[in-house]
Amino acid sequence: MNKRRIFLTSALPYANGAIHLGHLVEYIQTDIWVRFQRMQGNEVHYCCADDTHGTAIMLRAEQEGITPERLIARVLEEHQRDFAGFHVEFDNYYSTHSPENRELSHEFYRRLDAAGMIERRSIEQYYDPVRDLFLPDRFIKGECPKCGARDQYGDACEVCGATYSPTDLKNPYSAVSGAKPVRKESEHFFFKLGKCTDFLKRWTRSLDTLQPEAANKLDEWFKAGLADWDISRDAPYFGFEIPGAPGKYFYVWLDAPIGYFASFKNLCAREKLDFAEFTDAVKSKDAGTEMIHFIGKDILYFHTLFWPAMLEKAGFRTPTYVYAHGFLTVNGEKMSKSRGTFITAESYLKQGLNPEWLRYYYAAKLGPTMGDIDLSFEDFVARVNSDLVGKYANIASRCAGFIQNRFEGKLSELHMGAERLRLKMQSNDHCWSLIGRLYADREYGKAVREIGRFLDEINQYIDEHKPWELAKVEVDSGKLHQVCTTALTLFWYTTVLLRPILPDTAEKARRFLNLTGDHMKWGQYNALPPGHVINRYEHLMTRVDPKQITTLIEASKESLQPAPIPHSQQRHAQHQEQTVETAASGAISIADFNKVDLRIARIVGAEHVEGADKLLKLTLDLGGGAKTVFAGIKSAYQPEQLVGRLTVVVANLAPRKMKFGVSEGMVLAASGDSPGLFLLSPDSGAQPGMKVK
Ligand code: 2FM
Ligand code: ZN
Repeated sequence: MNKRRIFLTSALPYANGAIHLGHLVEYIQTDIWVRFQRMQGNEVHYCCADDTHGTAIMLRAEQEGITPERLIARVLEEHQRDFAGFHVEFDNYYSTHSPENRELSHEFYRRLDAAGMIERRSIEQYYDPVRDLFLPDRFIKGECPKCGARDQYGDACEVCGATYSPTDLKNPYSAVSGAKPVRKESEHFFFKLGKCTDFLKRWTRSLDTLQPEAANKLDEWFKAGLADWDISRDAPYFGFEIPGAPGKYFYVWLDAPIGYFASFKNLCAREKLDFAEFTDAVKSKDAGTEMIHFIGKDILYFHTLFWPAMLEKAGFRTPTYVYAHGFLTVNGEKMSKSRGTFITAESYLKQGLNPEWLRYYYAAKLGPTMGDIDLSFEDFVARVNSDLVGKYANIASRCAGFIQNRFEGKLSELHMGAERLRLKMQSNDHCWSLIGRLYADREYGKAVREIGRFLDEINQYIDEHKPWELAKVEVDSGKLHQVCTTALTLFWYTTVLLRPILPDTAEKARRFLNLTGDHMKWGQYNALPPGHVINRYEHLMTRVDPKQITTLIEASKESLQPAPIPHSQQRHAQHQEQTVETAASGAISIADFNKVDLRIARIVGAEHVEGADKLLKLTLDLGGGAKTVFAGIKSAYQPEQLVGRLTVVVANLAPRKMKFGVSEGMVLAASGDSPGLFLLSPDSGAQPGMKVK
C-alpha cells in the first residue's frame, strides 16, 4: 500500500488563557492518531500554533499592563510547555502573529479580492464611547430580552439559553468600561460566502467520512442560507491590517485557519518540504497528499464552510477530512472554577498526576462522533488502577523477577502450549488488523476495550500456569522459563498496541525489554531470540491515589483567578466557564472594576467649609471641566498645601447632596490603624483627565 502523506492540524488555542483539560481532549486525540499513523509508516506533518489576534487578547494585554506581543510570547511558552507535558508532539508549534501568516493572509485576501469575492459595506455596531472601541458581542452585557436576567452577554443568555443579538439586550453596557454603548456606523469587508453555496454542497458530499451529525448540521445551514461573512474589524485591534485599508484589520477568524498554513510553511522551510505539494489545488492532487483538521464541534462552521470556501476561491487545496469531537464534562457537569473542576494542564502536572493516565482515560472514552465525553474522577481512578496498573504493568512485574533472578535476565523459547498458540493467533490476526482499523477510524474506546481483552487473556494465562508455583519445583524450571518468556513477549505486543496512547511508558517498556526501535513498529509477529537479555524491571506506572484527585480539585479551587476577559471569538464555551464567579472568593470581575472611572485631577481650589470639622471643599480640574468635591481630609492638610497638586478621583460617582453643597466625586486617600491620612498622587508626567486603571 502506498504510504499516506498527510498535513494535519489541531485547532489553534487562543493566546489569552491556559491550556486546560477541555483543550486536551483534542490534542490527545490528534496526537494518538498521528503516532498511530507514523507507526504505520505514513508521512505525517502535525502543525499547530497559538491563535493570537483579536480584541480579547488586546484587552488582556492592556489589563496586564504589557504589549500584546509580550503577552503572546509568554503564553506561547506556557502552551508549548503544557503540550510537551502531556506528550503532545507537534512537528511545529507556531504563532498566527508571524511573518508567514501576515504574508499568507495578504495572499489569500488578494486572490479572493481578484476573484470578486470581497465586498465592502457599512454596518452599524455597538461602540464604547469611553474606550473608543467597537464592541464584540461578548463585550456587551445587559438584561436578557427573554427572561430579564441581568449581566448577560450580547449573544446568549446563560440563564434561559436564549440567543439574540446585542442590540436586543435591555440596558446594555460595555463590559470593558461599564459605559452605555452607542450605535455607530463603519465600513466593513465581507467575504461572499453565499456565492460559495454550490461549491460547498459539492465539497461536503465529497467528504466520504463526514460524520453524520456534521452532515446534518451542514444541511441545516444550507437550508437556512449562507450569509456573507464579515472579515474586517476597526482599529484599535490586535491583528493584521488589511492591505490598502488603513485602520481596518482582518478579523481574527480570517487569519486563524491561515495560521495552519503559516505554521506548515515555517516547518517546510526548516525541513526542506515542498509547501505547494500539500497546499496548492493542482499540485496537491498530483502528489496525492491529504490535509486533515481535528477540531471541536463548536468550530465546525468555520472549518466546513468559511475555510474550504476561502481555500477554493483562492486556488488552494481543500481539506480532505475534518474530524470534529465533542465537549468535555467533568463529573457529569460543565467544568467549573468554583467546584474545582476547571483544571489547567499545569495544575494537573504540578500535583504530580501522570499525563498518561489522562491520555489513557480520554482514549478509553473517545470515539469518532461529536458526542461529549465525561471525565468522571471515580471512573478515572478505577480504570487507571485496574487496567493500566492491574492488568498491563502487572504482567511485566509478575514475570520479570523470575527471568532476572533465575535465568540471568535471559529469555527462552516460547511456551508451546495450546494457550500460547491461541494467544499468538490472536495477536497476529485479530489484534493488529482489528485494533489498527479502530485506531485509524478514531475508535479509540473500542481499541482500548480490545486491548483490555487481550490483557485479560494474558493474565489468565499467567494465572493458569502459576509461575510462582512452578518456581518452587526444580523440575518445572524449564516451564517457568517458557511461561514467563511467553508472558513477556505478549506484554511486548500489548506495549506496541498501546504505544500511540502511552508513548512514555512504551519507551520505558522498550528499555526494560531491551528492544530496538524496530521492535516498536506496528504488527509484531515474532518471538525474541532465545537468550535475549532483558533489563531489570522498574515500575512502569504507579497507581492513582484518590487523595491526589482531592488535592487537585482543591488546588484548582485555590488558584481561582478573577474571570478572564471573555474572548469575543471564544467558541469553546463548553471549556471555559464564562460566567463571572465572584461569590465564592469575594473577588470582583474586571468588568466590575472597570465600572469605576478613576481619573487624574488637578486641585485648582481648596478651602475650609464653614461649620464642617472634617471637610475641605476642593475644586478639581479633570482635563475638561471642573468638579466640586467635599473631601474628609481636613485633619491632614491645609488648603494651601493642596492647590496645584495632582490626585486621583472617582469621576463617575453619582453626585451626593451634602449639608454644605453637592459633592461630584471622591478623591482617594490612604489611611490605616495608625493616625494619618495620605492623599494619592500620580507619578510625574500624569495629566488631568488621564484614566487610572
Ligand atoms: O475556538 C478557538 O479556540 C479558536 N482559537 C480555534 C481556531 S482554529 C483555526 F481555525 F485557527
Ligand atoms: Zn434569559
